[in-house]
Amino acid sequence: MANVAVIGAQWGDEGKGKVVDLFSRDADIVVRFQGGNNAGHTLVVDGEKTVLHLIPSGALHPNKLCIIGNGVVVDPQVLLEEIRGLKERGYLKDDSLLKISEQAHLIMPYHKSVDQARERLRGKGKIGTTGRGIGPTYEDKVARVGIRFVDLLDEKTFKEKLKHNIEEKNIYLKAILKEKTLDFRSIYETYCRYRDTLEGYVADTALLLHREIKAGKKVLFGGAQGTLLDVDHGTYPFVTSSNAVIGGVCTRAGIGPRSIQEIIGISKAYTTRVGSGPFPTELTGAEGEKLKYDGDEFGATTGRPRRCGWFDAVGARYAVRINGMTGIALTKLDVLTGFKTIKILEQAEPAWEELEGWDTQISGAKELSDLPASAQRYVRRLEEILETELVLVSIGPSRDQTIMLRNPFR
Ligand code: GDP
Ligand code: IMO
Ligand code: MG
Repeated sequence: MANVAVIGAQWGDEGKGKVVDLFSRDADIVVRFQGGNNAGHTLVVDGEKTVLHLIPSGALHPNKLCIIGNGVVVDPQVLLEEIRGLKERGYLKDDSLLKISEQAHLIMPYHKSVDQARERLRGKGKIGTTGRGIGPTYEDKVARVGIRFVDLLDEKTFKEKLKHNIEEKNIYLKAILKEKTLDFRSIYETYCRYRDTLEGYVADTALLLHREIKAGKKVLFGGAQGTLLDVDHGTYPFVTSSNAVIGGVCTRAGIGPRSIQEIIGISKAYTTRVGSGPFPTELTGAEGEKLKYDGDEFGATTGRPRRCGWFDAVGARYAVRINGMTGIALTKLDVLTGFKTIKILEQAEPAWEELEGWDTQISGAKELSDLPASAQRYVRRLEEILETELVLVSIGPSRDQTIMLRNPFR
């Protein structure tokens, strides 16, 4: 029985949402295991676009159990809005099909203030965070002062922890960051209201997963961000604050490594990055603009334009190694249409390999053989460089704009 993990092989926004939605058809349970609402996953189903930030990208299929794991940092306001939005559109009908780990940490207003104030103070040297309080929330988790759902559920614990944290954060905000301080009472009351609405979803999700896996249920783990944004293995310090790589699935969902059989790396047929940090294949001229507009490369969370460049085979091969990928899902091949030549970065000392481009539209292709010969050569060359089987080629944002070469659940 295969359980499958979907991992970003670049700097995020590889199209994980589309692929997780597609693979969800064959799964019983879909798990988000790290990150928070810094993520934005776009799903296009029957022409309708949905952007998910916290709820697993299996939520648009009926009868899938969706789990937000212990490693996710949750802004309850964003989660509530997402639940409300999905319900209004007829999804998430059955409340028992969404579970949030009692160990998941809460993003608090001071985390957002600290994140944004630090970025302002860093000026030109900023990381370019999403400003959603992700880093400071993970900091508190590691410092053992974070507030988890299980703490929120216990009124006395919550009050004590919040009081202590606000006292400390206010000193830091005022003296070091020169920011406005925060009021205990209003935060306390707001979070108590969140608790009343979210309480019913809170569960011991690691135990639940253990039981379901034992019973033979098929689980899909859908990551946020990507390998090069991983705090241990990414382009530090221009990274996020969690483990987006495969190891993150175990610690941040509470399962053993032997429960994962397939590790599918998601990669665009080119490269993008939002925020600061190194980007060896970045294209700053007309070719970069073409990728940005043809690929609609604007962040699903912050709306920021994404930096665009050629396929970085050095980075992607690294991602294959760090994660032990068993397959690659290649997305946005259609966006390369119209380039006379396409480049692949082969070595860190830029060594470009140049391939022939194509100019016919490819989004209607059903089989790899429907693609122009030069597009087929491009994807096969990427497969060769990565020494990893291509399992999927995505040629448009919709479910049916996909050439599935091997279904990892079968
Ligand atoms: P994620 O964060 O990895 O889930 O990716 P995002 O949703 O942030 O960004 C991927 C974008 O590409 C979204 O707008 C998707 O709808 C879109 N997309 C996914 N696959 C394809 C594809 O094969 N072709 C095109 N043109 N767009 C795609
Ligand atoms: P998905 O899941 C792309 C980037 C930010 C910034 C850095 C740190 O949609 O692929 P953070 O707010 O996490 O402290 O920001 O990480 N970043 C992402 N870039 N896709 C994402 O998520 C990202 N989540 C964070 O732009 O450079
Ligand atoms: Mg995204």
